Amino acid sequence: MKRTLGTCYYPEHWPQEIWEQDAARMAALGMTWVRIGEFAWSRIAPSEGIFDWAWMDTAIDILGAAGLKVVLGTPTATPPRWVCDKHPDMFARDAMGHPRGFGSRRHYCFSHAGYLSESKRIVTALAERYGRNPHVAAWQTDNEYGCHDTVLSYSDAAMAAFRHWLRDRYGTITALNQAWGTVFWSMEYDDFDQVDLPNRTVTEPHPAHMQAFRRFSSDQVVAFNRAQVECIRPVSDAPISHNYMGRITEFDHFAVGQDLDFATWDSYPLGFLEDRVGATPEAQRHFARQGDPDFQAFHHDLYRAVGKNRWWVMEQQPGPVNWAPYNPAPLPGMVRLWTWEAFAHGAEAVCYFRWRQAPFAQEQLHAGLLRPDSVAAPGYFEAEHVAEELKECEDIAHQTAPVAIIFDYDAAWAWDVQPQGRGLDYFSLVFALYRAMRKLGLSIDILPPKCRDFGAYRLVCAPGMVVMPDDLKAALSTSGCEVLIGPRSAARDAEFNIPTPLPPAWPNLDVAVSRLETLRPDMPIAIAGGGQCQHWFEHLEGSAETVFETETGLPVVMRSAQISYCGGWGDEVFFERLISDLCDRVNVKIRALPRGVRVRETGTERFWFNHNPHPVTCEAGDLPAAGVIRESL
Ligand code: GAL
Repeated sequence: MKRTLGTCYYPEHWPQEIWEQDAARMAALGMTWVRIGEFAWSRIAPSEGIFDWAWMDTAIDILGAAGLKVVLGTPTATPPRWVCDKHPDMFARDAMGHPRGFGSRRHYCFSHAGYLSESKRIVTALAERYGRNPHVAAWQTDNEYGCHDTVLSYSDAAMAAFRHWLRDRYGTITALNQAWGTVFWSMEYDDFDQVDLPNRTVTEPHPAHMQAFRRFSSDQVVAFNRAQVECIRPVSDAPISHNYMGRITEFDHFAVGQDLDFATWDSYPLGFLEDRVGATPEAQRHFARQGDPDFQAFHHDLYRAVGKNRWWVMEQQPGPVNWAPYNPAPLPGMVRLWTWEAFAHGAEAVCYFRWRQAPFAQEQLHAGLLRPDSVAAPGYFEAEHVAEELKECEDIAHQTAPVAIIFDYDAAWAWDVQPQGRGLDYFSLVFALYRAMRKLGLSIDILPPKCRDFGAYRLVCAPGMVVMPDDLKAALSTSGCEVLIGPRSAARDAEFNIPTPLPPAWPNLDVAVSRLETLRPDMPIAIAGGGQCQHWFEHLEGSAETVFETETGLPVVMRSAQISYCGGWGDEVFFERLISDLCDRVNVKIRALPRGVRVRETGTERFWFNHNPHPVTCEAGDLPAAGVIRESL
């Protein structure tokens, strides 16, 4: 498949007279895709029962006539005022019970039945109108589920739906009491209708209650998305996607992805660096104009799995954004690097957000490919450069990576529910291990927690995966690959109880976590031979072999045959030592890369990326700042 480019366009923001020029310019620039429509509800349906299709018909005709393929977004992230007035209780409520207000976006509650009906109505109307339109070549449902902290809602609608969900899961209230252990603090219930949402309690709510609420909230997103898919499928054969985000773990993306044909995500490397990566101040400064060297790659690999090998970048940062604490401009060359990096990880398409910078409203300081006066902005020329390069480019073949990490949203909720130390979270732990692998030059696959076939891999890691079903343990144990688990893997049963025998209770691995402690940032534990455990340290007992220990002789990693259990959260030095040791055992080649240089292998090429603001020399040769080298294999 040829890799393609696209852009996000809002015809409703611009006078109709310029649509044709815009379309012609997009096509001339080498764009294949144009995404439209995802916030246009107030223009499609200005009031109840009134539809205005004329403008959208024209826009799609013009874009299609220029040779562009349209990705049509459903507009449910922005219910207009009349919908909210009709359903005054459709707003999501925050944990204090306050309703989110009208005047931006994503103000709906996933559990509100009236809003769900409105959504189905608008999506059905859109799908019926354009489902067979030859220019509409793909769909996007809604926009960025979870953006602006909108998955968890503590509304009355959510409470009613949660009780229903609990009834379905537990059958009887006795079963719920038993599963959760509500005898603690006299929290026993007589009826499902007594179970409130886990907010506004005096001190922390029951962890099983919170975990159930997190699972329920994720299921509501899945159901909302599925309802849209069911409106589109009967009238359109075009593939359906959703644009996910960076570091959003509030819903199970794999579950949403099951109903979709491909995944897309929105990549804003500079915004993320300031806002989401959690890098040190020095790294934030060093990579301020380039973005974190691993954060985008992590999501490329994650969404490749969510999309069942079909994925795009739907929104690529083309210049400064408006929403991070600081919003620098990318280093020249980075827009091109980000685009190639996505292709190297298997993206079918990269679309830039947005075509032209808006002179009005919330995002007026967000760059586009064009300035508000339609003059090309710097990102435009980098997109043009990639479009030229793509003309010469053979297909980029997909290849299974030698190493894999399992990513489990349920585990992310469990860590949120019970972090056991300030600031500790699942994403950070998994990302730390991922970073260690990337620093060693590895290409990595991310796997869903339901995966049971590991035959293609030489090393599989499942750090921090709090609930590990027996069949997963068995599949990993018999996979023939090297397996790394811990810290906190298999630490709870499905109902948030500590199992006995004590975790990880792994077949043929005599290791048990006898107690755990979390550590202040200023009290890391030194590991013999180099590196430290920080944040999290488990005391391990059992007869398995100790392969890494603290300077005082406490086991940190214990191993039996091909299963290794790591009881600590390593710093970069220790995690790199651990991954090197495991790769060594299974003959996976690792490299010593200069800081900020990353490698990704496809079936046909080896890509080298320099994320530094200065040139470097690496194995493949000299890389300028923001440089990319493509070696044929
Ligand atoms: C994304 C969103 C877009 C736009 C963009 C700005 O999160 O999907 O609509 O707001 O951010 O960077």
